[in-house]
Amino acid sequence: MTERRRVLVISNRKGGAGKTTASVNLAAEFAASGQRVLLIDLDSQGHCAVGLGVKVNAGEVSVHDMFTDPNWSLLDCVRSTGVPNLSLLPANTAFQHDRCGHDQQLLVRALSQEAVCARFDLVIIDTPPSLDNLLLNALCAGTWVLVPYVPHPLSFEGVRQLVRVLFKIISEQNPALKILGFLPMMVAGNVRQHRDINAQMTRQFGTLRVLGGIRSDIKLAEAFGQAKAVRDYAPKSRGAEDFAALAALLTTLMEK
Ligand SMILES: Nc1ncnc2c1ncn2[C@@H]1O[C@H](COP(=O)(O)OP(=O)(O)OP(=O)(O)O)[C@@H](O)[C@H]1O
Ligand SMILES: [Mg+2]
Repeated sequence: MTERRRVLVISNRKGGAGKTTASVNLAAEFAASGQRVLLIDLDSQGHCAVGLGVKVNAGEVSVHDMFTDPNWSLLDCVRSTGVPNLSLLPANTAFQHDRCGHDQQLLVRALSQEAVCARFDLVIIDTPPSLDNLLLNALCAGTWVLVPYVPHPLSFEGVRQLVRVLFKIISEQNPALKILGFLPMMVAGNVRQHRDINAQMTRQFGTLRVLGGIRSDIKLAEAFGQAKAVRDYAPKSRGAEDFAALAALLTTLMEK
């Protein structure tokens, strides 16, 4: 493994937990701080390209070709975005997950290439809401994992299940992987259930691991619809403020 590789995996097996919102907006924040960021969209829903306004035509090379084409090369698929310093490795929306094979090290190998390490300071991987070889490739390649969750009762159980998977990966495949934190999404301070679930998360995983959350803000959904990061769409919004604070916190945690 190359020392210089810095890979942040954003994961939760539960659908709609805010993975893509966190991936796109954190990628934009880190890019704005001057880091050369590669956002990899491992979810065949292809939402990262939508959120950044990158048009991907049918048949164009994608990250998913990694699983089927032995001659696939990561750098051939990298696309620029409208955001300075931010590149995208787009998804193939026609990819069938039963074609992802069993090799869990494909992404590790691709990201370890010198040319890739030299071109990007930080890689962020948005993952699908599934436990399959796509997610395992991401977790095997990761330096850190961030788990967004919506503070609902079902999410708590989902996070516990994911943590079991993470510990298995850490003990058997990727001892370098660190759980960076659990990120409450769509938080409403006046909703008692949100406070209760976040307190339960804190009891289970520790105060330091449960991060300051992203408040509920329609601007985040609107920004997505306008194919922009929230920092560009609505710089004074709660969403933009929360993502800026989160990026600053994660920068500190990733330096440890
Ligand atoms: N803090 C927030 N405030 C308001 N809406 C939000 C917030 N975070 C996410 N959303 C909205 O919630 C929905 C789900 O978010 P998102 O697509 O990021 O989840 P996901 O985990 O990537 O979903 P999937 O599992 O389908 O990939 C989106 O419509 C998004 O705009
Ligand atoms: Mg998503």
